[in-house]
Amino acid sequence: MTRKTPETLRSHRWFGATDLRSFGHRSRTLQMGYRYEDFARKPVIALINTWSDLNPCHTHLRTRAEEVKRGIWAAGGFPVELPAISLSESMVKPTTMLYRNFLAMETEELLRSHPVDGAVLLGGCDKTTPGLLMGAISMDLPAIFLPAGPMLRGNWGGRVLGSGSDVWKYWADKEAGTITEADWREMESGIARSFGTCMTMGTASTMAGIVEAMGMMLPGAGSIPAADSAHSRMATACGERIVQMVWDDLTPKRILTAGSFHNAIVALMAMAGSTNGIVHVLAMARRAGVDLTLDDFERLSNAVGVIANLRPSGEFLMEDFHYAGGFAAFFKTLAPVLKNGEMTVTGRTLGENFADAKVWNDDVIRPLDRPIAAGGGIAVLRGNIAPDGCIIKPTAAEPRLLKHRGPALVFDSYDEMLKAVNDETLDCSPDSVMVLRNAGPVGGPGMPEWGMLPIPRKLLKQGVRDLVRISDARMSGTSYGACILHVAPEAYVGGPLAAVRTGDIVAVDVEARSIRLEISDAELAARLAAYVPKTRPEPRGWVRLHAAHVTQADKGCDYDFLEGTEPLPEPEIH
Ligand code: FES
Repeated sequence: MTRKTPETLRSHRWFGATDLRSFGHRSRTLQMGYRYEDFARKPVIALINTWSDLNPCHTHLRTRAEEVKRGIWAAGGFPVELPAISLSESMVKPTTMLYRNFLAMETEELLRSHPVDGAVLLGGCDKTTPGLLMGAISMDLPAIFLPAGPMLRGNWGGRVLGSGSDVWKYWADKEAGTITEADWREMESGIARSFGTCMTMGTASTMAGIVEAMGMMLPGAGSIPAADSAHSRMATACGERIVQMVWDDLTPKRILTAGSFHNAIVALMAMAGSTNGIVHVLAMARRAGVDLTLDDFERLSNAVGVIANLRPSGEFLMEDFHYAGGFAAFFKTLAPVLKNGEMTVTGRTLGENFADAKVWNDDVIRPLDRPIAAGGGIAVLRGNIAPDGCIIKPTAAEPRLLKHRGPALVFDSYDEMLKAVNDETLDCSPDSVMVLRNAGPVGGPGMPEWGMLPIPRKLLKQGVRDLVRISDARMSGTSYGACILHVAPEAYVGGPLAAVRTGDIVAVDVEARSIRLEISDAELAARLAAYVPKTRPEPRGWVRLHAAHVTQADKGCDYDFLEGTEPLPEPEIH
């Protein structure tokens, strides 16, 4: 590893030169009230901050930024905060996934265009984590991720409430008439008790675990509750550590190898993490130049059981997980199946980081020989309607549906589906297989989280709480049910999901990893040949760029022109 000197810092090109332009860079920094000794010959650290007034998961990131800066100053760096798009999962429509790559591009270009030597990435709400990481990986300056941390447990009427998962559950009860409108309103004020990300094993917690497994986070940081004072101390520690990482030139591509992504997948499986994690891991790997496919997920899906007993697959919430030892203890438990020699942001290996961790509650973080599910936290299915794959989270589905044949009930749009499920005369049964298409990366657009299709009201009243549901959409990490997602290629671009008709028999066998529309190959080909794709007005602006360049779910939904590891263009400084 080549150690940096003040003269070889990237920011030296702005601040250390003796030309006309550097006069401006220095005088304008002095204009902001900084002294020469505050910034000259020091690593300049960008805080890429995804705080916003409309992102309740990141409310505290303004304060945390100040705590990070404290660490940077103390370690001899110069902190500069650069705000980026916030991507609040609960507020941004039609879906934050439409803007994940926007954040990735913004992160990369913020780092490229400014006098920056390293970065602390402040995020956590679902897409912010991969968006920040993808951009930082492409730019390849030393970077450390500061997760927003999970919010506190929810409460209502003496019951513990989990983000998302309990919303879906009690909504079904309200629709079935088993809880009242007043109960529902009370839940509204009890389910989200503090700032921070969803505290179930949703996408935010999944991505925190994945990024920690990849070595891009301080040890144990991923599970600290947002409102815990330890979270503030961790923020300061991130600031302190990044300065040394710059001197050591410890860049993402020195950390991220095939082994890091092996660890990310093992963590995903052992958490029964969000299915969104698959798309994001694929995208990050392709940015890092690591060859990863859905087959790698399938290969590792039975390598480990689900040892994190967290909702929606298990019982507890992230606060319980942290008090049980958190991600540090989780990785220590997983050591036999991890590649422990992988480098991390600490400058030590993953195994060294977690050597002294302890499990304090082995009901929450189970030993490897007592998992909550024996394996296959996420399964990859293939078949004639999903030749490039689709996925299911078997642990979150009713077991009776893991091997199932039933008649398809097909919808071409979300609105059509929504109208139908509220119609109590809808022709459906507990064996129906609901299909929603035109909800993929291009068709959505942005592959919205529509994959947990609502159970028809008629069936809810009969007590039915799960059905096989197939779509080219994603679903929230806090969702559950026999939802088969990410069908690739998507129907909108002519994938064979487009050929399914209401009444066709669809057969799903999770153990055999298969999904099949029971018609002949000739019939399938004829239907696809006759298929008239759904059309819509040509979009403008960002959506047009998105539709033209987004890849399919099995490739990570990145933009084709952002993948890969070609040499970094540096800006001319004149
Ligand atoms: Fe932000 Fe769930 S809404 S993490």
